[in-house]
Amino acid sequence: MPSKMRAGIVGVGVGIPEQVLTNHDLERRLDTSDEWIVTRTGIRERRIAPPHVATSDLAAQAAMQALRNAGKTPDEVDLIMVATATPDMPWPATACLVQAKIGASHAAAFDLNAVCSGFVYALWVAAQAVETGAYRCVLVIGADILSRQLNWEDRSTCVLFGDGAGAAVLVPVEEPYGVLSGVLGADGTGAPLLQVPAGGTREPITPEVLAQKRHTVYMRGREVFKFAVTIMGEVSLQALEKAGIPPEEVSLFIPHQANIRIIQAAAERLNLPMERVFVNLERYGNTSAASIPIALYEAWEGGRLRKGDVVVVVGFGAGLTWGACVLRWAY
Ligand code: UT7
Repeated sequence: MPSKMRAGIVGVGVGIPEQVLTNHDLERRLDTSDEWIVTRTGIRERRIAPPHVATSDLAAQAAMQALRNAGKTPDEVDLIMVATATPDMPWPATACLVQAKIGASHAAAFDLNAVCSGFVYALWVAAQAVETGAYRCVLVIGADILSRQLNWEDRSTCVLFGDGAGAAVLVPVEEPYGVLSGVLGADGTGAPLLQVPAGGTREPITPEVLAQKRHTVYMRGREVFKFAVTIMGEVSLQALEKAGIPPEEVSLFIPHQANIRIIQAAAERLNLPMERVFVNLERYGNTSAASIPIALYEAWEGGRLRKGDVVVVVGFGAGLTWGACVLRWAY
């Protein structure tokens, strides 16, 4: 009997801007300190995209590297999903701009916005699309240029974020490999906790909006923190249960890189030692939808992902949204 087909990641890639902005650079512009940022968040530096670079540029770079690593060409791609909250423009979708840039002329393309949970949302939806046989080669991209939506005078938010993109290529793979389970959730009543209030149809851009900086990130940090420390562990356990895998079998836990204290709390909930937790936020800050695929790439490139490893990816973000997927690494 032929074994069941699942969707497996067979290539990963990144698009990361070169310019580094350190905590010490921020100390010179703001009433903040390297010590405060490191102890409260774990972040030491982040990358900032230059003015001429848009989200689709980083996304396309990540996509091409992921395709090369997968041994695939752009014309083999039949679906592109870009998880982003910072598209190049309100419309068309950034995914369409990526499609044109990489020449994936046979691919359908759309964006998905679940902010920092976006990559996990896209991965789980893409996995269904592959598992049903509807699509055979899907590019799942998480890309954000949050630096363009920050109020650089608000020390409580601007120190947290950075820019970047990461991509994964999903194709059918045979069991026991591939995406084994996923759990997604949302609580829209929590929308006011973390948002960019203006720039959409509710509050279109006006000179007043710009003067009040309502087109930038507003966050009630402590409340988001409390939500995050609970949900990251919870949803990971739910996804593991759905996959029928006990937490002690997790080889690598890849959480959304927002705050080291949130990551530690999640790891504790799963009883995982930090050696099995991937952390790179000290170098990139919170890159929103890009954080998990960048971490996946660095874990793979650094030899921390081997075929057969059980991997949990888990994220949370504005919405509020959250999600986790369990994978058995396929390459
Ligand atoms: O993808 C989702 C994105 N969001 C998050 O992950 C955010 C989750 N929340 C957090 O990570 C934390 O709440 C923060 C890192 C944002 C803040 O840490 P905290 O321990 O919750 O600090 P706080 O907001 O309670 O602020 C403590 C103090 C305040 O001063 P007072 O009122 O005690 O005098 C802030 O004004 O720290 C001050 N503060 C700063 N001081 C130096 C806030 N930001 C800074 C700063 N530098 N950058």
